[in-house]
Amino acid sequence: MNIIDMKNNNNYELLKLAGNAIKKGELVIFPTETVYGIGANGLDESAVENIFIAKGRKTDNPLILHISNIDMVNDIAKDITYLEHKLMDEFWPGPFTIVLNKKDVVPDIVTGNLNTVGVRMPLNDIAKKLIEYSNVPIAAPSANISGKPSGTNIEDIIDELKDKVSYIIDGGDTKIGLESTVVRVIDNNIHILRPGYITKEDLSKYGNVIVDKHILNKVEDNIDILSPGMKYKHYAPNTKCILVYSNDNNKLIKKIKELESQYNKCLVITNDNNIKLFNNSLSYGSSKEDISHSIFKILREADKMNVDIIIIEGVDQKDIGLAIMNRLLRACSYNYIEV
Ligand code: TXA
Ligand code: MG
Repeated sequence: MNIIDMKNNNNYELLKLAGNAIKKGELVIFPTETVYGIGANGLDESAVENIFIAKGRKTDNPLILHISNIDMVNDIAKDITYLEHKLMDEFWPGPFTIVLNKKDVVPDIVTGNLNTVGVRMPLNDIAKKLIEYSNVPIAAPSANISGKPSGTNIEDIIDELKDKVSYIIDGGDTKIGLESTVVRVIDNNIHILRPGYITKEDLSKYGNVIVDKHILNKVEDNIDILSPGMKYKHYAPNTKCILVYSNDNNKLIKKIKELESQYNKCLVITNDNNIKLFNNSLSYGSSKEDISHSIFKILREADKMNVDIIIIEGVDQKDIGLAIMNRLLRACSYNYIEV
C-alpha cells in the first residue's frame, strides 16, 4: 500500500497512479467532501467484489457509483425524470446521492441485485480528478470495516484497511463528516433514504419530501425496505453507548449526571458549553456543523478510552440534526432516552 499525500499540495498529477490502479481493478481509498471512500472500478465485477471482502460487507447492501461529469450518468442509468434531472442539477457536485433505474452495464454486485443504482457526483477535487483519471464510475462505500464509524481521516482508516488497498490518498479531515443524503424519487415524491448535509428543508423546494420511517426507527427483520443499508448495525463503537436528548438543557444535564452516577467508568460526549459539568468528557464542538464534522472521529476516540459506557448528548432534528440523530441512534443501537 502506498500513501499519496495530497494534504499540502494540489499536484493532481500524483493521482494518475491511483487512477491507473482503479482501471486495473485494484482498490483505492480517497477523500470526498463527506467521508473517505474505498473505491474500485464500478463496472468491474471482481474489483467490486473485493470492496465487499475488504469491508466485510453484506452483499445485499448496494454501493454508490461516483461520477465526475453529468454525461456519465447516462452511461449507467436510464428513464431519468424531469424532477430527477432537476435535483441532480441543483445538488451536484455535492453530498447528494440519487437512486435511479440502472442500465445493464452496471454489474449486479454493485446494486445488490436491485434494478436501481445510487449515483453521486462528489464536490471534492481529489475525488473528481481520481474519477477523471480512472475514466470509469467508481463504486465506493465509506472507508471503514462494516458496522464501524465511517472514516473521516486517514489515521482512523489506516489500521483497519491498509492491507487491503493499493493506495490511500490523504486529503486531510473531510469537510462535512457525515455521508451523503440518499434520495429516491417515486411518483414525483422525494423519499429521503438516508439523511445528510442536503436536508429535508433543502429538498422541499423541489417537491414533496417523505422522510423514510426507518431513519429514526429500528428496522424489524425480514421486511422489504427502500434502502437495504438501513438493516445493518452501523457506526457503532465496541463500547456500550446511550443517546440522551432534551430540548431543556437543565433536564438534559440532570439526566446525564444521574446516568453517570450509575456506572464506574463513564464518558460523556457533549458540547463545548456543557463539557466542564461532567467528570470525564469529550466535546464534539458547539454547532451542528461541528458535530457532523467530528462525530465519527470522536466515537473512535471514545472507544479507545476503556469505559463501561459512553453517554452521548443528542440534538434537535431540524436541518442537519436529522442526519446527526440518524447516525447517533444507530451508533447507540437505538439505546435512547428523551427527557
Ligand atoms: O457520502 C457518501 O455517500 C459516501 C462517500 C464515499 O461517497 N459513501 C457511502 O457509501 O456512504 P455507503 O456504501 O457507506 O452507503 C451507501 C448507502 C447505503 O445505505 C445503501 O443502502 C444506499 O446508500 N444505497 C446504495 N445504492 C442504493 C440503491 N440502489 N437503492 C437504495 N439504497 C441504496
Ligand atoms: Mg457506510
